[in-house]
Amino acid sequence: MSPSAVILEAKSRLARARSVTVLTGAGISADSGIPTFRGADGLWRNFRAEDLATPEAFARDPRLVWEWYNWRRELIATKQPNAAHRALVELEGRHDRFLLITQNVDGLHRAAGSNKLLEIHGNIWKVRCTICKQVAENREVPIALPPHCRACHGLVRPHIVWFGEALEEESLDRSMGAVASCDVMLIIGTSGVVNPAASFAGIAKAAGAFVIEINLDDQPQSAMVDLMIGGRAAETVPLLL
Ligand code: APR
Repeated sequence: MSPSAVILEAKSRLARARSVTVLTGAGISADSGIPTFRGADGLWRNFRAEDLATPEAFARDPRLVWEWYNWRRELIATKQPNAAHRALVELEGRHDRFLLITQNVDGLHRAAGSNKLLEIHGNIWKVRCTICKQVAENREVPIALPPHCRACHGLVRPHIVWFGEALEEESLDRSMGAVASCDVMLIIGTSGVVNPAASFAGIAKAAGAFVIEINLDDQPQSAMVDLMIGGRAAETVPLLL
């Protein structure tokens, strides 16, 4: 099928859908200037996300982990949503039954105006106290290290789901429900290597959804999707409206 035929098919499927579920990953924010995790510019001081985004790394060296997050906060603070984020806001407005599930913690979907949104890995602008568990918004760039809870003065951590940690129960339930009940699922800019998001394409397919993927190149889940649209999210997602 020619690229334009693929876009037309995707556009037609979305226009006819009674319910749409979207999953996004770092690739949708790449066009806003935020490096992806597993792309060429994904490392910081030669550390991978897997080395730092873990409870063990934080227990071992909270300052190092916070230095990494300060680097990411500083980088993200100056970035804006792109045409792909905005197109998903428009898509949300066209479908009563719609849910956008994002693995991204950069807050760009919310900044673009998405409301029916689940940030299943948390949000980089939120911190959680390791003692009293209170969650607070903190937009200091950089955050003064080591950061302490305003309520109990305990050490705070990023309110982000780290490797080895479970998603919040409600997030998981709502995500699984939306993935298993949609007519069309859009998967945009994710390598599909981190669970549970990596399982969503298979669950949607098994439940009878038409699954469309947008990515620069083929990923593990590409073999099972119905339509694979190769290209940059900021250029291709707006074409689906
Ligand atoms: N447009 C579309 N896709 C893109 C673009 C772009 N401009 N640039 C990169 N991509 C694709 C890459 O081909 C890759 O498949 O985006 C994907 C980015 O993959 P990752 O860097 O692995 O990011 P992600 O899939 O979101 O990672 C999942 O892993 O590190 C953890 O919790 C973290 O949420 C993250 C999770």
